[in-house]
Amino acid sequence: MQKDKKIIIANWKMNPDSEKEVQVIFSGIKKIASKLLNVQTIVCPPFIYIAKLVDSHKGHRIAFGSQNVFSENKGAFTGMISPNMLKNKGVEYVIIGHSERRALCEDNILVNKKIKSAIKSGLKVILCIGEKERDDHGHYFNFLKKQLLDSLEGVPKNSLHNLFIAYEPIWALSGNSGNKSMSSADVHEITIFIKKILHDQYRVKVMPKILYGGSANPKNAEDLILNGNVDGLLVGKASLDAKKFGEILSIVNKL
Ligand code: PGA
Repeated sequence: MQKDKKIIIANWKMNPDSEKEVQVIFSGIKKIASKLLNVQTIVCPPFIYIAKLVDSHKGHRIAFGSQNVFSENKGAFTGMISPNMLKNKGVEYVIIGHSERRALCEDNILVNKKIKSAIKSGLKVILCIGEKERDDHGHYFNFLKKQLLDSLEGVPKNSLHNLFIAYEPIWALSGNSGNKSMSSADVHEITIFIKKILHDQYRVKVMPKILYGGSANPKNAEDLILNGNVDGLLVGKASLDAKKFGEILSIVNKL
């Protein structure tokens, strides 16, 4: 049986400042990513850069994703980008519910609407969940369960193959942790927990892939994937450095 490809996502967030820098970072990533057989690379630039990148790159080893999307496809919604617009442009993936968007008042209800709408439009959804902090009583488990189930309310079984769950503990994101990721043992515990919730909810054999995000870098990528038992990584800061991101891709390709 063919081994499933690992998924490595570059979340550029609100970077870089110019088209010129986009080209430098992207061409560096492309040089490595387009050679790798065991990794699916997904680049998620800010909206303004997506169209040009999609038009200029044709290989299937790099796909494109957006960092957000609106929940509606038509109407008077100033400033929004719809799922159909992304799909028709050739964007394949969309990150929904990133903690930095949740911090801007996006709740589980809106996240849920966005997921349903994006899936209906044929996009693959990367749903982010993650707790702000950990406590000794394990309340974060209940928080994660609610975040996951509320976000997926009414999402049917037959959409699960278009869904990825990215576990991103907010406290481990590079901006909050001084680049220190969560331990792979703790990541493993959460992957089991997420799988159990999904299994209880859906009772299907084929589960969504589970990814980890939070200070992933070339030093911890192997440990996070092998011992954290995840299907891939969502990489923020290190994805803006083509050399570092390329190292992550090459390391993961060999696993
Ligand atoms: P980080 O960000 O790799 O910089 O911690 C990950 C993310 O926010 O998706």
